[in-house]
Amino acid sequence: MVIRKLALKNYRNIEETEFFPCEEVNIVYGENAQGKTNIIEAVWLFTGCKSFRGAKDKELVRFGEEKSELSLDYFTAGASASAALEITNRRKAFSGGVPLASPVGLMGEFTAVVFSPAHLGLVKNGPAERRKFLDTAICQIKPSYTAALRDYARALEQRNSLLKDIPYHGELLDTLDVWDERLVQAGDKITEERVKYALLLEESAKTVYQGLSDGKETFDVRYESTEDNHFGEMLRRQRKNDILAGSTSVGPHRDDIDIRINGVSARAFGSQGQQRSAALALKMAEGEIVKNVTGEYPVLLLDDVMSELDASRQNYVLNHIRDRQVFITCCDPDALERAGTGKKFRIKNGSIV
Ligand SMILES: Nc1ncnc2c1ncn2[C@@H]1O[C@H](COP(=O)(O)OP(=O)(O)O)[C@@H](O)[C@H]1O
Ligand SMILES: [Mg+2]
Repeated sequence: MVIRKLALKNYRNIEETEFFPCEEVNIVYGENAQGKTNIIEAVWLFTGCKSFRGAKDKELVRFGEEKSELSLDYFTAGASASAALEITNRRKAFSGGVPLASPVGLMGEFTAVVFSPAHLGLVKNGPAERRKFLDTAICQIKPSYTAALRDYARALEQRNSLLKDIPYHGELLDTLDVWDERLVQAGDKITEERVKYALLLEESAKTVYQGLSDGKETFDVRYESTEDNHFGEMLRRQRKNDILAGSTSVGPHRDDIDIRINGVSARAFGSQGQQRSAALALKMAEGEIVKNVTGEYPVLLLDDVMSELDASRQNYVLNHIRDRQVFITCCDPDALERAGTGKKFRIKNGSIV
């Protein structure tokens, strides 16, 4: 996956800019608040996912403007391709000039992996971030997975509001079965994909982690499910409690991945350095999995992360990104001399200078 051209108009603090990145390392540098992350975020949006900063669509539109226009020319599977996004209150996506029913249609067409300081807490933070990591990663290699996520979220919302109403309207209890069934249908698909993905993750992340720890530490990943393959049964068993609590206590929305270093939970017992290495290993593994499944490395987006890594981890990253297109943002490009050949873009006030 190689980006040939990125054009942005009225996007965040960028009025109008065009980028022609090189096929290897692209360093996007400049002072704080100049628009470096905005550029990384713009590239990311072409994966069909929402902003990794959790921004709403309308926040992406340049202040005082009505619409952002983004376009991407890229090279994939031996051919040129293009995509475009128009952002107002919502996003409208185009692939090869053809409007798509939803931006989700871009998933799997253009692939990228993003790593930012927020991701360094992937191992240390709560399970919601790890679930999001799994789900986003799976969507890129299996776009149909989004349908299961959507169905599940809807069924869960309906079931939860029903659970809250049942104490006041006993007759509603009968309708719970319908929602349980929908929840199980979508939930089982989600669990199946996540379990499969966790196995791929373990295989790839083990290698990366060994590299990072000079082979001194072991690394394991396991999907931890609250429903033990009998989701329907678990829901029935928890029903009374769920009605009392007014929410659903089991299911993929409560699951997690257990990450172990030397056999013990990295979240509970890992040092900060181990947790960071584990997060880095998971993110690098995400890229390897896309490569193994699609035959191509995704574009790697490293936002402000190099300064957060110590010298040996920096070296590991820089030595392993030679064969793919990378965008690295930083304040001081001299600190990245080891990144090797590439192109540098200095960003000031939303423009390349
Ligand atoms: N919708 C928007 N319209 C105009 N400016 C914006 C918008 N959203 C963010 N910005 C501006 O973008 C700048 C931050 O850009 P960012 O890419 O995060 O900076 P950095 O170079 O530090 O990564 C801030 O100055 C912020 O005010
Ligand atoms: Mg930034």
